[in-house]
Amino acid sequence: MTRYFDAQASRWDADPAKLTRARITAEGIRALRPAPGGRLLEFGCGTGLLGLQLAESFDAVALVDASAAMLAQARQKIDALALNHVQTRQAERLPAQPPQDAVACLMVLHHVRDLAGFFADAHALLAPGGQLFVADLYPEDGAFHRQHADFAGHNGLDPEALAQLARAADFAQVRHAPYFTIEKTVDGAPRQYPLFLLMAQKA
Ligand SMILES: C[S@@+](CC[C@H](N)C(=O)[O-])C[C@H]1O[C@@H](n2cnc3c(N)ncnc32)[C@H](O)[C@@H]1O
Repeated sequence: MTRYFDAQASRWDADPAKLTRARITAEGIRALRPAPGGRLLEFGCGTGLLGLQLAESFDAVALVDASAAMLAQARQKIDALALNHVQTRQAERLPAQPPQDAVACLMVLHHVRDLAGFFADAHALLAPGGQLFVADLYPEDGAFHRQHADFAGHNGLDPEALAQLARAADFAQVRHAPYFTIEKTVDGAPRQYPLFLLMAQKA
């Protein structure tokens, strides 16, 4: 769906619901961090709404996305704010290095087909004690992406199934909880989509 996200990039931040969602997610992540500092990588950053909310809590931030247009929007904000410790990188999977203290993603993992591979990559990328944060949709009936003909991801995700994948990838502590609800109009009717925030820590 990279072409879809490229086309959405210039108007992504005009939706106040996306700003609110990122702000509440950042609050949830900060509450689960033992102390500020270290390196953060946000995977599927879009225009950087989550990573830029968290930027002042980290010494270095890498914003990674498959969409060049999304990253261009993020870059404009980074330059305007003169955030010299924030970098952008175009990629379709987690990089292998440098080691990170936190990896975060918001509304991205349901687009990733190989979930076990994602948890293995995240575990390899994190430094000892590093934390993985996954914020995403609970299982839904498929209506969320019904209008996207090229959507090939998951109709939401079961956080308990993800927790099992995380443990299989050697994460030591895994927990998850509901923390936010997206309101979206589907087929003319209002729908509610609850989100979970999962945290997994490398021993
Ligand atoms: C629903 S948007 C969420 C954007 C941002 N996290 C937010 O909450 O505003 C999903 C983002 O994930 C990116 N994405 C999806 N699959 C990806 C992949 N395999 N690698 C990198 N980025 C990906 C898309 O380009 C898009 O920017």
